[in-house]
Order: sequence, then C-alpha cells, then structure tokens
Amino acid sequence: MEILRLLLVFLHFIGLAVLIGAFVAQVSGRPKGGGFTVTSGMLHGALTQLVTGLALVGIREGALDLPVDNVKIGVKLLVLIAILALVLVGRRKSLATGGFMAIGLLSVLNVGIAVFWT
Ligand code: HEM
Repeated sequence: MEILRLLLVFLHFIGLAVLIGAFVAQVSGRPKGGGFTVTSGMLHGALTQLVTGLALVGIREGALDLPVDNVKIGVKLLVLIAILALVLVGRRKSLATGGFMAIGLLSVLNVGIAVFWT
C-alpha cells in the first residue's frame, strides 16, 4: 500500500506541473494584444489534483493509518473547487484577465498551503 501512496504522490506532482505549466505557457506565449486561453492542460491538471488528492486522503486514513489534517485538506479542496469552477467557465466562454490570473494564483496558493501549513 505504501507503494500505491508514493505512486499517487508522484501523480499529484505531475498534475501540479501540468496545471501550473499550462498556465505559464499561456502567460509567456501570448501574442501581443491577444487574450488568454484556458487550455485542456489546465483542466486535466486540476482534475488530476482532485482525483489523486482524494485518493491520497483515502489511502492515508483508510489503509495506512497515517494522519490527515482535515482543515488543511478542506482548504486545499475549496481552493481546487474554485480553480475548477474558473477553468470550466473559461473552457465554455472566455474569462476576464482577472479570472484567468486567479487560476494561476490559486494554484500557487495550494502549493504554498501544501508546503507551509504544518
Ligand atoms: C491545485 C491543487 C493542489 C496542489 C497544487 C497540491 C499540491 C500538493 C503538494 C506540493 C503536496 C506535497 C507536500 C508535502 O508532502 O509536503 C501535496 C500533498 C498532498 N495533497 Fe495536495 N495539492 C492540491 C490539491 C489537493 C486536494 C484537492 C487534495 C485532497 C482533497 C490534496 C491532498 C493531498 C494530500 C493528502 C497530500 C499528502 C500526500 C502524502 O504525502 O501522503 N491535494 N499536495
């Protein structure tokens, strides 16, 4: 089971890289005067974080009896739901620049919560 947890942590990091990588690619690769596009990488990265994050909570509490900080995880989940809501709106219609930037800022915020909330 420990190997499964490590595999999920691995995928959790890949999802994080895809989400923030797709965001940065838009910000740095935007043609002059062009708008920002919410790409499928952002959607898939965010969904990967949701699925692997929930599975990590399950395996830590259920199979491995490792502690889980429910308040921290609850805050991370809320932040991710906000990211997903923005991404889904942005995939259907265009997002204002503020909404698009919020996707990147909230993603970085979740990295900060994961690392500094001890
Ligand atoms: C954008 C969204 C997210 C980002 C950027 C993110 C980032 C991270 C990072 C960097 C770590 C490693 C930190 C460490 O081990 O010290 C981590 C661990 C973890 N995350 Fe997330 N996370 C996100 C969403 C979620 C969600 C939605 C959940 C659960 C509902 C979740 C549950 C967990 C758990 C349980 C761990 C501990 C894994 C372990 O070491 O066993 N994460 N996350």
